[in-house]
Amino acid sequence: MFEVLPSLPADPILGLSAAYKKDTNPNKIDLGVGVYKDEQGRTPILQSVQKAQQVLLANEDSKTYITQQGVQGYIDAMLSLILGNGHSALLEDRVSGVQAPGGCGSLRILAELLTRCDKDLTVWVSDPTWANHIPLIGNAGLTIKTYPYFDKANACIKFDEMADCLSQVKKGDVVLLHGCCHNPTGADLNHEQWQAVVEIAQKTGFVPFIDLAYQGFGDGLEEDAYGVRLLAANLPEVIIAASCSKNFGLYRERVGLAAIVNANAQIKTVTQSQIQNVARGIYSMPPSYGGALVDIILNDDQLKHLWMDEVTEMRERMQSLRAMLVSKLAEKGASKDFSFVNQQKGMFSFLCISPEQVDKLVNQHSVYLVGSSRANIAGINSHNVDTLADALVAVL
Ligand code: LMR
Repeated sequence: MFEVLPSLPADPILGLSAAYKKDTNPNKIDLGVGVYKDEQGRTPILQSVQKAQQVLLANEDSKTYITQQGVQGYIDAMLSLILGNGHSALLEDRVSGVQAPGGCGSLRILAELLTRCDKDLTVWVSDPTWANHIPLIGNAGLTIKTYPYFDKANACIKFDEMADCLSQVKKGDVVLLHGCCHNPTGADLNHEQWQAVVEIAQKTGFVPFIDLAYQGFGDGLEEDAYGVRLLAANLPEVIIAASCSKNFGLYRERVGLAAIVNANAQIKTVTQSQIQNVARGIYSMPPSYGGALVDIILNDDQLKHLWMDEVTEMRERMQSLRAMLVSKLAEKGASKDFSFVNQQKGMFSFLCISPEQVDKLVNQHSVYLVGSSRANIAGINSHNVDTLADALVAVL
């Protein structure tokens, strides 16, 4: 039966890792998949996670099923981290939530839930957005449309066009927004722009869907939650998909959170039952391990502080790598001003070069990055920055 299926090309992001591994060039550079790396190019297990693993190993006494929603301590701690302790939606018991397998799993079960509300619903995503948003949401059967977001020629957000487009969105449509560290551009909304988005949502009645996969990697754990908290304080409904892949370095453990801020506690009970039912119909319940680790970390003062310090270290390192790349490029006489890279936030930088130039970087210089010109800044280090800057200068 399977002979009817065509073979598919490699994933545009994950496929880069395989191509990089195969490359025999000793000077190859991996700026592809969004994974944090240290100065030696390693992705170590965070110390806070290592300590939590020991606690879990010493205390876990059963591998029986967990509840359908996952580890409740994890869900509660994540909601406080995202919305802030004492957020009115939490105090009023209006937030439903389940642990889900990674940010991807969260996005998918929320998309499935949306089809139960209205199978003809449209989800608006930024142009550009993370490539995997399209299959995760589209394969659930929802229609996807794009709103203008990034001006590649000027390396900045085109907010007026974005606002105009969102003002035309119809009531009940869903608008996907990146809570912080926009993937792929690294260009985030400022406070005034978030406020404008709130006002447009109030006027049109669209429902915001926040993807928060990099909390702590932009300006700080609190600062990066500004947008989601503002929306949740001013709108009756907000959908949230969060991930612990990056800020806890738990990539392979698949730890995510799917949450909904509801209009009232009664609807919360309904959405809680529905989202658990969606999960049951796909994977039954999430794997417990990663959520249990985050539960341990966020509910222990010492471990939480250690983790917060580690997040700060990762963020500051990525900020310093941006500065290092920008000054290297200027020093080597690049014919393009890359100073905008310093203003971008988080793990990614949109280098704003053409697909042909990206192609040359990959195929002639063994510098691996996504075709859109998205580079994982964490892949830069003091050993490879000269090679990288030379390659960029050469392809400009
Ligand atoms: C990325 O954007 O590189 C990461 O989120 C990994 C992925 O799944 O695409």
